[in-house]
Amino acid sequence: MTALAWSPQSWKQRPAAQQPVWPDHDALERILKTLSGLPPLVFAGEARRLTGALADVAEGRAFLLQAGDCAESFADFSADSIRDKLKVILQMAVVLTYGAGVPVVKVGRIAGQFAKPRTAATEIIGDIELETFRGHMVNDDAPTPGARVPDPERLIAAYHQSASTLNLLRAFTKGGFAGLSQAHVWNQEFVASSAEGRRYEQIAAEIDRALRFMAACGIDLISEESLHQVDFFTSHEALILGYEEALTRQDSLSGEFYDCSAHMVWVGERTRQLDGAHLEFLSGIRNPIGCKVGPTVTVSEVMALCERLNPERVPGRLTLITRMGADRVADALPPLLTAVREAGHPVVWACDPMHGNTFTSDGGRKTRRFDDILHELRGFFDAHHGAGTWPGGVHVELTGDDVTECLGGFGDILEDQLHLRYTTTCDPRLNARQAIDLSFRVAELLRS
Ligand code: PEP
Ligand code: CO
Repeated sequence: MTALAWSPQSWKQRPAAQQPVWPDHDALERILKTLSGLPPLVFAGEARRLTGALADVAEGRAFLLQAGDCAESFADFSADSIRDKLKVILQMAVVLTYGAGVPVVKVGRIAGQFAKPRTAATEIIGDIELETFRGHMVNDDAPTPGARVPDPERLIAAYHQSASTLNLLRAFTKGGFAGLSQAHVWNQEFVASSAEGRRYEQIAAEIDRALRFMAACGIDLISEESLHQVDFFTSHEALILGYEEALTRQDSLSGEFYDCSAHMVWVGERTRQLDGAHLEFLSGIRNPIGCKVGPTVTVSEVMALCERLNPERVPGRLTLITRMGADRVADALPPLLTAVREAGHPVVWACDPMHGNTFTSDGGRKTRRFDDILHELRGFFDAHHGAGTWPGGVHVELTGDDVTECLGGFGDILEDQLHLRYTTTCDPRLNARQAIDLSFRVAELLRS
């Protein structure tokens, strides 16, 4: 592979996996040009701040919580659904911070997570063969041929939905809603009535008591910003490279390029080819970036990924998100941890316990068992303890709603109940109760 001079367009000289076949090329070009003239969604300085926060994770002083939808939806777009997703992420962060005593870096899979890589280009529904659904940034999930035709106007719609989602997130996280004194308010009713919800209430009550204690000691809580605001960052898979290129801007302060579609972007398991377009694009933007690694990855591939994506070895620049599967993690992960540690690459290691544990239920729905998810998490922590590396974070798919998409957990969702509230447009997500339950388990693993 010969090195190219990097530019926001240089990915075009490499094979790009998983790109839609847009039927009208001129329309696509017109829309990308429009996008490149629209304001950036994030500011380069914010992305740099996230790199700094992730450097603390790489060095074992903080923990990364990256969570949100598998695929955001144009149909499920409301203040309530954004707020409820934020609530559950804030709750998980409180459980982790309180339970394990480490600062938590909060990154949503939100405000841009609209494109999906797919294993097959077509699927059979009923007796027709359809193009697969590739996320609302590309086509619609309705099972008709017309709905599945890629439409570049959707790139603009995704940009606008990302902008308003991010706007509301900023309002909530900087405007008082995310302050620690609100911790009770985040507990939604269907969560509060569960065992996890009650366990969470106890923590919220202890935080209240601690705040009252500090106030009684004369500490000025009003002026203590960190009690009233949180830093909340956005991320998504950088899949549709034309869109990411159009939102890439040169930072006037540093002269460097940032993909201003989100604070952090990652490359998926299906698009991380070393000589492919996605790695070429990610290698030149200065945002913190992630790379998924699944069970078939080799030690030498991981070393090459580290060299290609973080040759200067900047701590916080690269997060490796491992998604091995519950039964593979114990064998597959330790050699990678040892090799990366010995090479001195300062990566953040995060565990995605979702994507290696997906299967289709007898009723034909994609699902995951809560027990498999926990099993992979335990394997991840065990591997890190064994290798002497820091288990830096978790990466999960969740929603604030009371969905029935993953099996087990509190309330014990069974296979024949999956259809009750199965609303994801792509992969099965944890509901708020399962997500909070998971955060208690992770806090325990962090303490042990
Ligand atoms: C995802 O994160 O939704 C995803 C498709 O993951 P992976 O690339 O690990 O399969
Ligand atoms: Co997914």
